[in-house]
Amino acid sequence: MEKTLLLLKPDAIARGVCGQIIDRFEKRGFQIAAMKMLQLTKEQAAIHYQDHKEKPFFQDLVDFIISGPLIAMVIAGENTIHASRGMMGSTNPIDATAGTIRGDFALNIRNNIIHGSDSLISAEREIKVFFNENEIYL
Ligand code: RTP
Ligand code: MG
Repeated sequence: MEKTLLLLKPDAIARGVCGQIIDRFEKRGFQIAAMKMLQLTKEQAAIHYQDHKEKPFFQDLVDFIISGPLIAMVIAGENTIHASRGMMGSTNPIDATAGTIRGDFALNIRNNIIHGSDSLISAEREIKVFFNENEIYL
């Protein structure tokens, strides 16, 4: 059973499309292991995005992710990281295929609706940024 962290970013909440996105993961066969709504502090956002600290878009990324509440989820299943990244589509929604989440719900690289961990190591680290062990039910 592989787990990953998903974030339905503030734009997903503002636009009211969270249910449709969660529905896709449930239909695909993933189980929800944890879920909460919260607004990150600047410090928490910097920890979550620590790998991007030196990138030119870091400040913009942090400003966006703290701009409103988000939904953090842990989903579990088979090949969860690979499959969920495929469902999300390309980072830049302009390049994302129709049928992927970004391809269907986003147009802008900053407001790209969803985050998903990109490796087992990132998933383990990122899940701990958002959840205590006793908040994960699988
Ligand atoms: P995420 O971490 O959000 O799941 O997205 P990702 O793996 O597909 O992309 P990543 O390279 O990890 O980038 C994290 C977020 O930073 C923003 N970004 N902006 N050139 C740019 O302006 C740029 N590149 C990336 C995106 O919002 C991306 O989701
Ligand atoms: Mg990433």
